[in-house]
Amino acid sequence: MSAFNRIPLSTLESATLPIEEASGLPNPLYNDPEMLAEERDRVLGKTWSGVGFAGDLPQPGYVKPISFMGLPLVIMRDTADVIRVFHNVCSHRGMILINDEGPITGSIRCPYHSWTYDLTGELKGTPHIGGVGVHKLDGFACEKHGMKEIRSAVWFDVVFINLDGQADAFAQFIAPVVARWQPYLGDTGYGRMRREAGNGGQMTLDVACNWKLAVENYCESYHLPWIHPNLNRISRIQDHYHIMFANEFAGQGTMVYNLAETAGTRLPVFPEWNEERMKEGEYITVFPNVLLGIQADHTFAIVLEPVTNGRTLEHLRLMYVGDTAIEPQYQGCRDTTLASWKEVFGEDVGVVEGMQQGRVSPGFNGGSFSPVLDNPTHYFHSWTAKRLLASATA
Ligand code: FES
Ligand SMILES: [Fe+2]
Repeated sequence: MSAFNRIPLSTLESATLPIEEASGLPNPLYNDPEMLAEERDRVLGKTWSGVGFAGDLPQPGYVKPISFMGLPLVIMRDTADVIRVFHNVCSHRGMILINDEGPITGSIRCPYHSWTYDLTGELKGTPHIGGVGVHKLDGFACEKHGMKEIRSAVWFDVVFINLDGQADAFAQFIAPVVARWQPYLGDTGYGRMRREAGNGGQMTLDVACNWKLAVENYCESYHLPWIHPNLNRISRIQDHYHIMFANEFAGQGTMVYNLAETAGTRLPVFPEWNEERMKEGEYITVFPNVLLGIQADHTFAIVLEPVTNGRTLEHLRLMYVGDTAIEPQYQGCRDTTLASWKEVFGEDVGVVEGMQQGRVSPGFNGGSFSPVLDNPTHYFHSWTAKRLLASATA
């Protein structure tokens, strides 16, 4: 019996009830090591999931091998600057093709029998396939044996994939977020986001918790007074509001974000950001695993990488507004911005890890929700449960 089939469906149905009656997702979804592959194939793989950042591939010809919930994949930027994602496996005997991140000059060469591929994944060379010195074989069509591509899209610098290829078009999927953020980012905001050169403006947290706990914690502001005492002095729990829309997105917003200021210098802001809303910030999860934040003077994206059921890498990338914002005169402001997020996200580690430890307890199997302060968390649980239930009857 598969890990998924061991879960009583009634425990998933409970998560879809109205918040007052609902209980959270059951423990096996957090503490059963076999559930990760089930979630990949039943939940994350059926929609658009984040796997990396376009800005991490800094030049044409750059490749980056990654692991997506146990699957070896590779992100590649071709010579025309197009980002694609492939299964990182040779079409010949299944060898892992690319082991190291970096620029490739010429073609991709399999380390086993030296079959070669170009940066669009096409098979180009099959040395000695027809015997020593015979590099072509009648009846063997190279075009049928290229690298296997996965449907992908780049938005907000995040590389998204749809593993099963059946989800709605990405533009349609993300349209509600674009519409919601029109008063902030306008039409030009996405094209203005800039990352610092090199390794600036980024961090990765290695957290001993299931990926869903990172989402749940990101979506709610209930914990603010106790876990983020410094932040709570400026941006209090009552300054926050919930965000839940289009069945795929949930999070929170604040009315009192403080623009970064260092020694009288302020970062450039988005030109279309509504003047009366300068101090607003919004933080939403694009279900399942991409956490976004927008403020007038910077944005960020976090891709949650589920490594095991109990371990998640949280990859954060900050982005600033326009070319001048990443110049040296704003270094102080950018350092302040990164430092403040490091503090906030660092403060969250203890609670998500604590919840993971709690998930082995027979005294807990999903818990209950505040009908006033836990709505986004419940929204995410309900979304996940519905997806799993749909996969059970499919
Ligand atoms: S497995 Fe790649 S060339 Fe043989
Ligand atoms: Fe937090």
